[in-house]
This record gives sequence, structure tokens and C-alpha cells, in this order.
Amino acid sequence: MLTVNTAAVPKDAFAALMPAALEAHNALQNKTGLGNDFVGWVGLPAHIDARELARIKAAAARIQKDAEVLLVIGIGGSYLGARAVIEALRGSFYNLKAKGTPQVLFVGNNLSSGYVADIFSLIEGKDFCINVISKSGTTTEPAVAFRMFESALIERYGEEGAKQRVYATTDKARGALKTLADARGYETFVIPDDIGGRYSVQTPVGLLPIAAAGIDVDALLDGAKEMAEICAKPGADNPAWQYAIARNAMLAQGKAIELMASYDPDFVYLAEWYKQLFGESEGKGHKGLYPASVSFTADLHSMGQYIQDGVRSLFETVLLVGKAPADITVEATPDNADGLNFLAGKTLFEIERQAFRGTYLAHSDGGTPNLVIQIDAKDEQSLGALLYFYEYACGLSGYILGVNPFDQPGVEAYKRNMFALLGKPGYEQEGRELAARIPEGM
Ligand code: PA5
Repeated sequence: MLTVNTAAVPKDAFAALMPAALEAHNALQNKTGLGNDFVGWVGLPAHIDARELARIKAAAARIQKDAEVLLVIGIGGSYLGARAVIEALRGSFYNLKAKGTPQVLFVGNNLSSGYVADIFSLIEGKDFCINVISKSGTTTEPAVAFRMFESALIERYGEEGAKQRVYATTDKARGALKTLADARGYETFVIPDDIGGRYSVQTPVGLLPIAAAGIDVDALLDGAKEMAEICAKPGADNPAWQYAIARNAMLAQGKAIELMASYDPDFVYLAEWYKQLFGESEGKGHKGLYPASVSFTADLHSMGQYIQDGVRSLFETVLLVGKAPADITVEATPDNADGLNFLAGKTLFEIERQAFRGTYLAHSDGGTPNLVIQIDAKDEQSLGALLYFYEYACGLSGYILGVNPFDQPGVEAYKRNMFALLGKPGYEQEGRELAARIPEGM
């Protein structure tokens, strides 16, 4: 189902971290580690609420019927998982394809006026629905976007019409979004208390937009369940242990940056999701690998030089897929004018595999060691398993590192400054002090 190759890690370095992995594993399974209020995702795949899942599917079916465009409003863990899964399984050209499901446009994940103006023009004349997602219900970027797009929706469909077209995914009781959704009569979906944003893709946060895009959420959850069973077993055969130990061994050997590398552009948002998961979970107390990503073979022609020969602070974790979604073969030509007849009869998948092998050896020889994760196929089952695998490995890796992988105190600093500089009531004095520190012209 999923394999991890850790040949790049010396056996003794791996063995040295086994006791820490066991301790981390027990802390996750028994909810005894740091941040143990937020490990609800560990047992989630085995305890999916069937009624809630049915409600999610029913809402997705209504969105498919009512909308040409679904606007998903959320930021960080409240959008990256859905975007990662939709692009991985329906392709990065999903919105351009002929299909029986709505386009999915993501908004509220930045403050760019150009981006928002483009989204307004893209929904012009198209029927649309909104899924607004925020666990806290108070995050500025999605709240501002929701205010704008909700107004546009009410203007188009009226307040009664909006009740059929807005779906709010948020906390069961707290936050401005919950209060607003209840007051307006919007259907709401609950993000469990014990699951933080970046671990929430298998809750309504991810499942509603994923289902609306026509993806089989049952198969996705089956994959997660199967992987949860695998990850629950302690020992060196556990793939999440292998990856978590290998990452920490790389860090101990002086590597500072993990590059997640894939050979499929449909995984670019999966890499964004991975970066948030590991970056926000581990980057604490001046510790943690910096998670970065590259998309090969494109980036072999831009970042390849640095990976091969720059500062030796990198290692790569390559994500491979065991089989191609489509067989596309290079044909022979009679004159062989481009000299490529040596590739005739080979599939693009075979050529890509040799690109990977060549790169693996070149980068390893150059001092950038490679770990390799391989999934069976680009399908719901494998992706569900992969997401759970990353989450479990991240929890383990954070505990091995000695941090709380389930909080994000550092994210608050910019938010506080922004509120003060924008003049939010209660922040006036702080705002004046901060404004005085900004260099002229900035
Ligand atoms: O993982 C996290 O907790 C964060 O990235 C949040 O998902 C992000 O800040 C958005 O928060 P919220 O869902 O409360 O709007």
C-alpha cells in the first residue's frame, strides 16, 4: 500500500532513535504527550460518524446540482487538504476539464485584491455556492473574503436563496462564524474540538469540498482507516516510524532542510499541505527541519544545480507512484530527425522512472541523500492512506524532536501586529507603538 525506503540512513542512527519512536508512539496512541487535547485525528478513521458523513455527501450532491462554481473560503489547514486532494485526484487542470461537477475556486487564503477581483470575474454569470471554513471562526483572511462573497451571493439569490447555498464548517459552538451561520440559517458542519486545522482533512473541512468535486470520500476514508491500523502497530516495520525516525536521523546528521520531491505536478498542493503540516507542527523552540518542496522534472532545470552542489544542508524525500494513471507511449519516426528513436515504445512513465533513478544517484552522490515514499496508485484509497501516514509520521516526528506538534503559538504574533496596525478595538496603544517602528516608506 505504501512503502518507505530509508536506505540513506545508517543502521545505527536508525536504531538509536527506536526507543524515542516507541515513546512517541505510545504518547500518540494513549494521548499522554504534549498537546494531547488535539490528537482526535489518530482514531478518527475508525470512528467516522456515519450520519455526519451522509449529511456531507447530501450537501455535496446539492452543491453539484446548484452550482457551476463552489467557492471554498478558508486558509491554512482550512483549505490546503481539500485543494491537495482535488488536484492530486482530479488533476491540476480540474477546473478547465469538461465534467459533471462544479469548478472549485479557493479564496480567503490571501489578501490580494487582484486575486479577489479575478474570483469575482470568474463567478460572473455562473451559479455558485460557498463553503466557508474556519475552526476559530475569527481568522481575518477568510472572514473578510466571506463578507465580500456572501454579499455577492445574497445580491444574486436573496437571503432565502443564500440559505440553500452557504455551507459553514466551523467549531460546534465558538466563534463569529458559528454565530453568524446560525443567525442566517446556514447549514453548518462541525470541526471536532480535538482536531486542529492541519490534521483536519478527513473531517468536513476536507470532505465536503472533496466530495463536491466528485471524489469518492468512502474510498479515501477506507485508505486512511487501513493506514491507521498499520500505523497503530509499534515497530520498525511501521512506515510512519521509518519516516519519522529517518527525518530525525537526518536532522541529527546536520541536515536542516527536507525537500519533498515529486514527479507529478498534480502533487504541488499536496506538497503545500505537507509543508504546513510539518512546518507548523515542528518549527518550535528554534528546532525542526525546514520543509520545502520541488516538482520534478521541472525543478531539476531550476533548483537542480543547488540540490546537486549548493550548501549541503538538504535531504530529499521523493514521493513516487507505483503505476501511471495513463499509458502514453513515445512513437518511432521514420527519419529519427530528433534522435529520439531510442525511446520508441517506452511509456512516459518508464522515462520518468529513469529520470528519478538518475536523479536519485546524482543527488545522493552529490551529498543530498534521498528517502523514498511510494504509494500504489493515484487513487482515493492510496491518497487517504498517504494523508494519514503523513499525519501520524508528523506526530511521531514532533514528539521525537521534543516539541508539541499540535499547537502553533508562532502564528499568533503576526495576527496580533496586524490587528493593532489595522486599528482593531482594544489594540490602539500597541498599534501606535508598532506604527512608530515601521521604517519610512514601508
Ligand atoms: O493548522 C492550523 O491550525 C492553522 O493553519 C489553521 O488551519 C489556520 O490558521 C486557519 O485557522 P481557522 O480554521 O481557525 O480559520
